[in-house]
Amino acid sequence: MAEEKKSDPSTGIAHLLARKNILELSPYRCARDDYSEGVLLDANENAYGPTSLPTNSLDPYDNHNTLERYPDPYQTPMKELFCKYRGCGITPAHVFVGVGSDEAIDLLMRIFCQPAQDKILTTPPTYGMYKVCAKVNDVGIITVPLEKDFSLRVPEMLAAVTPEVKLLFICSPGNPTAKAIPLSVIEAVAKSQYKGLVVVDEAYVDFSTEGSAISLVNQYPNIVVLQTLSKAFGLAGIRCGFCIGGPDVIQLMNNVKAPYNVNALTSEVAINALQKTNVLQDNIAKVLAQRKVVMEKLNNLDFVTEVFPSDSNFVLFRMKEKALECYKQMADGGVVTRYRGTEIHCENCIRVTIGTEEENNKFLALLETTFKALQG
Ligand SMILES: Cc1ncc(COP(=O)(O)O)c(C=O)c1O
Repeated sequence: MAEEKKSDPSTGIAHLLARKNILELSPYRCARDDYSEGVLLDANENAYGPTSLPTNSLDPYDNHNTLERYPDPYQTPMKELFCKYRGCGITPAHVFVGVGSDEAIDLLMRIFCQPAQDKILTTPPTYGMYKVCAKVNDVGIITVPLEKDFSLRVPEMLAAVTPEVKLLFICSPGNPTAKAIPLSVIEAVAKSQYKGLVVVDEAYVDFSTEGSAISLVNQYPNIVVLQTLSKAFGLAGIRCGFCIGGPDVIQLMNNVKAPYNVNALTSEVAINALQKTNVLQDNIAKVLAQRKVVMEKLNNLDFVTEVFPSDSNFVLFRMKEKALECYKQMADGGVVTRYRGTEIHCENCIRVTIGTEEENNKFLALLETTFKALQG
């Protein structure tokens, strides 16, 4: 099994920021780290083969990884394809592969935040998992809300950071805001007096015209970027996400992760997707065309007071009233959206994912009839 060139986490920003117990960790090692070919009697697998195969068209025997064997712990072939696709001079040593980007969020907190002492900074309204993960890990949260137009309030953020803040999350494009943060703003935060890591969550980056902060990673060792196959690649079901950053940070993530976190079926599908990105481009074009139509139609509804610009595969819009009731009744009527009215700056707002043309039409029709019925 290919083993990656190891980075030395005793140098660089990882050494300055990570918890002492993590820096001292001797990671789990298996015989397969050193020997991966021949008669494999080292890992207590079952040489008589799997008792079940995928029911769809996947053929697990096409892959060098058969299902009765543990998967590649480092996923190097997948990382190589990912690096080729993203460019920006990154190598597999800059990439961690996880069970969705949610795994990376949790790992970063466990590596860099001392429970009951350290903190993260978030900019609500934002992705809910930062808070959940912080709570699970007993990590404090400092919040600096976005402006009303959902841009970052950088001076306020920099004034709010304390030495305990180890991770500052920037979601770009934001969820639920759909707004991309310019790379120049991210760079300004990375260059500032703030000493922790800047985590740029780019789950929706492929729907945006703003470039990826991966282009900043080689220049700024304090930037890490999260990406996923769950959105533009349409592979939420396989649970595959990436963290891209300096090799010292990535090495610590590899040391702390479960040894075989990414399974063989996920790996096979992800590798196929990264090899054949023409389907990805077609699907992005379809989503963007439908996004335009949905936004135009929402803008034409007299009870919709604001349709926020979108750099993403969803749209956030504000209703003049009754958004919660409308959301509930639409769900009962078979169209499930997300009510976001309890979030700061999102009063009476609903977030709707761009679906197929048919789904979008159904949503728009139901929204109109539901609101009219609510008005009586
Ligand atoms: C901003 C953001 N980050 C991360 C995630 C999680 O992605 P994954 O499926 O890779 O865990 C989501 C999922 O909705 C998201 O909206």
